[in-house]
Amino acid sequence: MSLAKTPPVLVDLRSDTVTLPTPAMRERMASAPLGDDGLEGDPTVRALEESTASLLGKPAALFVASGTMGNLVAVLAHARGPGEVLAGAASHLLNSERGGAALAGLHYRGLPEHAGRLDAAALDEAIDVRSSARCPTALVVMENSHNAAGGTVSTAQEMAAIHAIANRHGVPVHTDGARLFNAAVALGVPAAALAAATDSLTFCLSKGLSAPVGSMLVGPTAFIERARGIRRMLGGTLRQAGVIAAAGLVALEGMTERLVEDHRRAQALHAGLRALDASWCGPELPQTNIVRVRVGSSSDEGRRWEAALAAQGVLVRAGSGGWLRLVTHRHIDDSAIATALAAFAQLSRAAR
Ligand SMILES: Cc1ncc(COP(=O)(O)O)c(C=O)c1O
Repeated sequence: MSLAKTPPVLVDLRSDTVTLPTPAMRERMASAPLGDDGLEGDPTVRALEESTASLLGKPAALFVASGTMGNLVAVLAHARGPGEVLAGAASHLLNSERGGAALAGLHYRGLPEHAGRLDAAALDEAIDVRSSARCPTALVVMENSHNAAGGTVSTAQEMAAIHAIANRHGVPVHTDGARLFNAAVALGVPAAALAAATDSLTFCLSKGLSAPVGSMLVGPTAFIERARGIRRMLGGTLRQAGVIAAAGLVALEGMTERLVEDHRRAQALHAGLRALDASWCGPELPQTNIVRVRVGSSSDEGRRWEAALAAQGVLVRAGSGGWLRLVTHRHIDDSAIATALAAFAQLSRAAR
């Protein structure tokens, strides 16, 4: 019997979620003090929640299993049905969380975005808390950095403008900051400056920050207490979760500043791809760690490139319309960028 040979993976640019825990994380996980998070509490989880709240300048924080769980818990803790959640049309919440609206019992509506930022005028127009016919607006959701827009960032001022519109109508704002620290590092501001411009916020420990599992939800104390009950309802009370929260502490203490390296390499990758074929990507450099490149005009063409690159050991993800998404992270060094560019160059020559 002959087994088909899969080429070795040389460069994995599919997502920053592939990052493995650092040796320091594994050590801290092995020695973390533990308890029952559903009873008297797990001391390491508690330490992570306290340091997160203080780092982000919010009254309280909650450890959750994932960004998706954090967003769902936040929606449920903010909004009661019947009600409408307004979010960017290309947001992760609307497009990549398996239709969480069905679980939330709320109506989700997509609004126009520009480079990942909600259109302020469209938001003002869309919010409706009084109409007897329309579903009343219950929550507004921003995303920073914005995944589908290519890791674009919103400044604290831009976030504050959206927050002000929502609050003028008495509507709370949640921010999906899965890659909050990428945004903060790219803008050169403390993450707390971005957190100040939203009522609640989730961020992931498990992406560029390299922890194996977990996300954090922050917000006012009463909101987080409600969220804690909802997390339990969703099966998210994880008992001796300090084993994984320990890695989260290391992530917050030592992994945020190095994200600039991922951003620098994303820019090098973008520049290299543009030098190969200027029709693949525009002149604007990526702001964070996500590179979008359009190698064709159909999803099929994108998938063909994805497969051909994989055959050379370079993993990327094809989206719709011929777009490929490449994400830099801790395991992508300068030589990985060179390997990826060489694979693109070879395929581009072959395609001519
Ligand atoms: C913007 C955004 N929000 C939320 C999530 C969900 O995070 P998780 O995979 O931890 O559920 C992701 C994951 O890629 C994301 O990019």
